[in-house]
Amino acid sequence: MSPNPSDSPLILYGTETGTARDCAENFVETLRLCNLHPRLFSFDDFVFEDLSQEKVIIFIIATSGQGQMPSNMRKGWRQMLSKHLPTNFFDNTFFAIAALGDSSYVEYNFAGKKLYRRILALGGKEIIKLSLCDDQHPNGMDEGFESFKKDCITELCQMKDLFPSIETLDESKQLPPKYILRYLEGIEDGETEEMERNENKMISGSERNYVKMRVLKNERVTHIDHFQDTRLITFENATEDYNPGDVAQIQPENFEEVIQMVFDALNFDDEQLDRPFHLEKSDPYVLLPPKHILTYPTTLRICFKKLFDINSIPTRAFFQSLSRISSNEMEKERLQELADYNSLVNANFC
Ligand SMILES: Cc1cc2nc3c(=O)[nH]c(=O)nc-3n(C[C@H](O)[C@H](O)[C@H](O)COP(=O)(O)O)c2cc1C
Repeated sequence: MSPNPSDSPLILYGTETGTARDCAENFVETLRLCNLHPRLFSFDDFVFEDLSQEKVIIFIIATSGQGQMPSNMRKGWRQMLSKHLPTNFFDNTFFAIAALGDSSYVEYNFAGKKLYRRILALGGKEIIKLSLCDDQHPNGMDEGFESFKKDCITELCQMKDLFPSIETLDESKQLPPKYILRYLEGIEDGETEEMERNENKMISGSERNYVKMRVLKNERVTHIDHFQDTRLITFENATEDYNPGDVAQIQPENFEEVIQMVFDALNFDDEQLDRPFHLEKSDPYVLLPPKHILTYPTTLRICFKKLFDINSIPTRAFFQSLSRISSNEMEKERLQELADYNSLVNANFC
C-alpha cells in the first residue's frame, strides 16, 4: 500500500557514521506502531524545494567534524542558508529535531542547534523543543532519544486533524516484516536484472561516494605510552583526491572467531549460511542496508560478517522488537523487562 500523505510524516536524517540513520529507522518503526506510514529519507536525498509542502517533518541530525553538518546533509544545508529563501518557507510545517552529539565536544550538538534556529527563522512551528541526545550520558544516546520519541509521539497523537488515523502507541503490536527475502533459486530468469536495477535506484546519494582501497601499511605514529593511537595508513592505488581536513571512514567487519561463536550458538549449518538471496522492501519507504556494505545476491554468512553489529550493546528498541516476535511467554516477559528503562539501568547484562 503506498502511503497517503495524511498519515505519512516525513523523517529526515543527517548522519556521518550511521547512528542517526538507526535512530530514524527506529522512530519510523514506532510511528508504524501508531498506525502511520512515515516516509524516511537521508536529508540530501529529499528534494529541497518540496520541503515547504510538508506538514510534519521530524529531523534526526548528528553533528560531525568540529560542530559541522554531517556529509549527507551538507547540500541541503547550503540551500537552507540561501538568502533567496523566503522567510515564510516553513510557515506550513510542524517540526521536531533530535540532535545527536557528544557533550565532550565544545561544539556540542551544533548541527541540530543550527538547524533548529534556521527552521524557526523560516517560520517552522515546533512540535516539541529541540532534544539534545548525548553519547556521554551514562545510558548512552538511547536515553535522550527515547524521551524525544515519547514526547514527540504524545504530541503527534494530539494532532488528529493532520493524522486522523493515528492510534496511541501499542508496543506489543506485531508489525509486518520490513523486508521480503527472495532466495535466488525462486527468482525467475530476467527478474534478477529488474531487481538489480531497483536496488541501484535505492542507493542514497551519499552512499555513491564510497571507494574500495587496499591498505598497504598501517603504522602507529604515536608512542605506545601516549593515550592517542594515531595511525599513518597507506593505500594501494590511492587515486582519490583529498584535501586537508577530509575524513576517511573505515567500514568494519566482524572477526571470524566472533562470527563462529554466533554460528555455534544459533546452530546454523553451511547450507543455510550460504544460500544466496536478494532483499526486497515490503514498503516503499523502508531503507535497504547500505549498498557499500551489502550487494546482491548475498548470503547469511556475508550478513554476519559485514552487516550485523555483533559486538554492539543492544538498545532498548532491540529488546522491544525481539519481545514482539517471541512466542514464549517467559522469554517475552524477560525481554520486555530488558526493554524497560528502569530495569535496564539496573541490569548488568552487558
Ligand atoms: C569525528 C567525529 C566528530 C564529532 N564531532 C562532534 C561535535 O563537534 N559535536 C558533537 O556534539 N558531537 C560530535 N561527535 C559525536 C557524534 O555526533 C555522535 O557520536 C553521533 O551519535 C554520531 O552520529 P552518526 O553516527 O549518525 O554520525 C563527533 C563524532 C565523531 C566520530
